[in-house]
Amino acid sequence: MNHSSISDLKAFLAEQENKSLLRFLTCGSVDDGKSTLIGRLLYDSKLLFEDHLAALEKDSKKHGTTGDDIDFALLVDGLEAEREQGITIDVAYRFFATQKRKFIVADTPGHEQYTRNMATGASNSELAVILVDARKGVLTQTRRHAYIASLLGIRHAVLAVNKIDLVGYSEETFSSIVAEFKTFAMQLDFAGLTAIPISARFGDNVFARSENMNWYTGPVLLEHLERVDVESKAEELPFRLPVQWVNRPDLDFRGFSGTVVGGRVKPGDQIAVARSGRTSAVKRIVTMDGDLQEAVAGHAVTVTLADEIDVSRGDLLVAPTERPEVADQFAAHMLWMADDEMLPGRQYWLKLGTATVPVTITALKHSVDVNTLEHLAAKTLHLNEVGYANFSSAQPIAFDSYKSNRDTGGFILIDRFTNATVAAGMIDFGLRRATNVHWQALDVNKSVRADLKGQKPGLLWFTGLSGSGKSTIANLVEKALLARGRHTYLLDGDNVRHGLNRDLGFTDADRVENIRRVAETAKLFIDAGLIVLVSFISPFRSERRMARELLEAGEFIEVFVDTPLEVCMQRDPKGLYQKAVQGQIKNFTGIDSPYEVPEAAEITLKTESAAPEQLAEELVRYLEERGLVPHM
Ligand code: ADX
Repeated sequence: MNHSSISDLKAFLAEQENKSLLRFLTCGSVDDGKSTLIGRLLYDSKLLFEDHLAALEKDSKKHGTTGDDIDFALLVDGLEAEREQGITIDVAYRFFATQKRKFIVADTPGHEQYTRNMATGASNSELAVILVDARKGVLTQTRRHAYIASLLGIRHAVLAVNKIDLVGYSEETFSSIVAEFKTFAMQLDFAGLTAIPISARFGDNVFARSENMNWYTGPVLLEHLERVDVESKAEELPFRLPVQWVNRPDLDFRGFSGTVVGGRVKPGDQIAVARSGRTSAVKRIVTMDGDLQEAVAGHAVTVTLADEIDVSRGDLLVAPTERPEVADQFAAHMLWMADDEMLPGRQYWLKLGTATVPVTITALKHSVDVNTLEHLAAKTLHLNEVGYANFSSAQPIAFDSYKSNRDTGGFILIDRFTNATVAAGMIDFGLRRATNVHWQALDVNKSVRADLKGQKPGLLWFTGLSGSGKSTIANLVEKALLARGRHTYLLDGDNVRHGLNRDLGFTDADRVENIRRVAETAKLFIDAGLIVLVSFISPFRSERRMARELLEAGEFIEVFVDTPLEVCMQRDPKGLYQKAVQGQIKNFTGIDSPYEVPEAAEITLKTESAAPEQLAEELVRYLEERGLVPHM
């Protein structure tokens, strides 16, 4: 099996075509015997195809870089879609089959720190085998995984009480574990829960009925996996096709490629583009093996339309009579998967299907205690914590509730700088109240106000360590601008923190909110036609970028006041560094709180080698060149 390939797998799948497919995952704690169980299933089924899927991934990648457009698009399948989502998580998919059914099992590491892997595996599984070590019983991790599996839409669970041989095949032990778990699981959304005592090591009740537990009369594991009815009804859902690729190999062909994630579609069917509301009819459904008369959920296709309407990557093609929600605010469950805590107010990328938009968490409603499922008041989420929050996206997105369609209701959040997946989310519903607040079109606008002042508005954003000289230089620059008849306003960190931001401290979350507010304030002043100077440490790249993106191109000028930490500590104008070093002030920038150096500031002022007056002049000259200030 070393040289398996896509064609091998295709041949195998064709042979297996009339068998139904069950996707499941195994979860539980470390050392509960997960690998042993998977190994036994693969070994006993005598059909080891586990490296097929790895080969498929590899081949798809190869085609992705070398193939021509149309081929690449047609190759897109479930795994491809998952990779496209940017999930960089280690989940191995193992493949095996019996006479009755074929199986894909998501093999995810059980360590607490890998809860995110478990979530990834769960997001496309129909059943979860939750393993418990009979000696240890139900652990926090067992509850956490069961809760996450349920949250991620898994309706069927098996509680596999493993290592039953090590407790003397005890019926009492089994029954008490099952009773405890069932009490907990009653609050979850499982439609079916079956408990089975097994020994993965010796094979008891895995493939064959154990001789050692005559008291157990239920199904053995494989029998249950072969019979359980999880018929996924994806074909019966409303039609949904997230556009992954606009396929334009030449001028005569314009197709929209992607995997159907709900319902069915035929040539002639009316479709709508969810966000724009435009409608057309399907002309052809193109695939690698020729045109289709119908495509159903799971098919990777390219559709062409009867009309030349605007469709791009990230759009969702839908049934016009059964449209998804389109909104820029919504409520969702979320599993936090990053080492860094969640920061309300920070912008993350949200990837939903093939769409990617900036989003912020506007309100964390509660976190969930996975042991009791109680709702707890919380300001943030840490690694592996689950919560419920309101979100606000920069543009409207099209979605369904996760309960009605996992593909169009599930999303991930991505850090905008590291590109790491930081959370998985499940949309509950759109928040409509926001859609009733429209922008008021005003006759007196920014350009009118600026014209009256005879200037172009702009924002000078001074960033740098405490004591670097930001405020000193900003003050000199403002005076120079005033001398040239410019209308200005200076927002200084220390001052704003006495008023508008007096409720904020110096935690990461508070600094994010500090910058969000001052950026919004600066934007209002720019709208008033002013040249605004902002002098805040603003230690995080994410928030400086957010401020930049609030404004029109060219308005934002990042001024990095570059002073080495040692120099700031020597100057220590307010004696704060001394206190911070002595531990009297916590979270002090440069000491025990990070400062992220700008990567592409418009201008960098090095304060070690020049006096503030000189640097202020340098900046004013730069503004002259940019046309913000007249030459003198
Ligand atoms: S920011 O990080 O949120 O942008 P901001 O510029 O508003 O900070 O405020 C920084 C000023 O607050 C510093 O110049 C200093 O005078 C004061 N300060 C008090 N505590 C801290 C702290 N822990 N870290 C940084 N600055 C502090």
